[in-house]
Amino acid sequence: MNRSHRNSGYRALNAMSRDRKTHSSNHGLHVESLCKTRHAALVTDCCDLLAKLPDRSVQLIVCDPPYNIMLADWDRHDDYPGWAGAWLREAERVLSPTGNIAIFGGLQYQGEAGGGDLLSLIQHLRHTSDMLLANLIVWNYPNGMSARRFFANRHEEIAWFAKTRKYYFDLDSVREPYDEQTKGVYRKDKRLNPDTIEKGRNPTNVWRMGRLNGNSPERVGHPTQKPRAIIRRLMRSLSFPGSTVVDFFGGSGVTTRVAVEEGRHSVCGDTDRSFLRHVAKQLKMIDRPDGPDPIPEFELSERLDETHPVFESTRSVMSNGTGP
Ligand SMILES: C[S@@+](CC[C@H](N)C(=O)[O-])C[C@H]1O[C@@H](n2cnc3c(N)ncnc32)[C@H](O)[C@@H]1O
Repeated sequence: MNRSHRNSGYRALNAMSRDRKTHSSNHGLHVESLCKTRHAALVTDCCDLLAKLPDRSVQLIVCDPPYNIMLADWDRHDDYPGWAGAWLREAERVLSPTGNIAIFGGLQYQGEAGGGDLLSLIQHLRHTSDMLLANLIVWNYPNGMSARRFFANRHEEIAWFAKTRKYYFDLDSVREPYDEQTKGVYRKDKRLNPDTIEKGRNPTNVWRMGRLNGNSPERVGHPTQKPRAIIRRLMRSLSFPGSTVVDFFGGSGVTTRVAVEEGRHSVCGDTDRSFLRHVAKQLKMIDRPDGPDPIPEFELSERLDETHPVFESTRSVMSNGTGP
């Protein structure tokens, strides 16, 4: 038996699922059926973007920081955790109690970088933050650089931290369907839950997905663009329609695109002005081949003003007269 099967939390979740109840993290969430989503695309420093956002206003932060391996002129920090500490603290402040942050990075970069990598960010959070490391996701790709002095690297990591124990997680939205033959075999096994057989398997914390090749149709011209499939899996499982997703190292604009496609609001930024050009290209390509619903209408602005839904809670607190 897997250790997690003896875990009381795991048993409680199973019991809730048998009784068709939902976890407390799903109670009271404002899951809207949306007619329009709002998106801000800003040319700005990560800390300046975060400073504009109210406390507890964001459901998901997709965070793909410079790796500190001198890939570009933005990619070098002598004191990486010291630099990252400022935006990590702010990220925790803006996350809602159900919120999540997914931080991309590698563990093998110390040689090149010297000043720190994803491991040092995890270590930093362990010492300075109350957030919980929910999963260290291994992104395993078949295509990568060759090597002679070590085994060629074929993975990157995504550290998923939850703000509190009430974090939102929608596993069903990202299950991998079983093929008909496998379903037939599993249906005969009375130990297996019939509901789960129909819904599909948990994709686990090892995600086998290719990196974008140079000529991938998804590419918009950013050197470290992440595949849409990865951002989509994070967005579907860690945020809900109508919530706000933030990406302050926006790069190629892929997070903005996926937020539009998945019916989330977004606030994304990057210091590089080409970000706006990339976002414009992304939005010309929007589609959602596997989604049942039409993509909600959307509005994009290069400014963040108080009418953006991320300020919703501040507005309702102020109109109730219960402000701080
Ligand atoms: C690893 S890339 C992000 C790639 C992005 N996730 C994608 O898939 O396209 C890091 C980005 O951070 C931006 N950047 C570097 N320092 C920054 C800062 N202080 N504030 C905001 N953006 C910054 C860089 O211009 C670069 O586009």
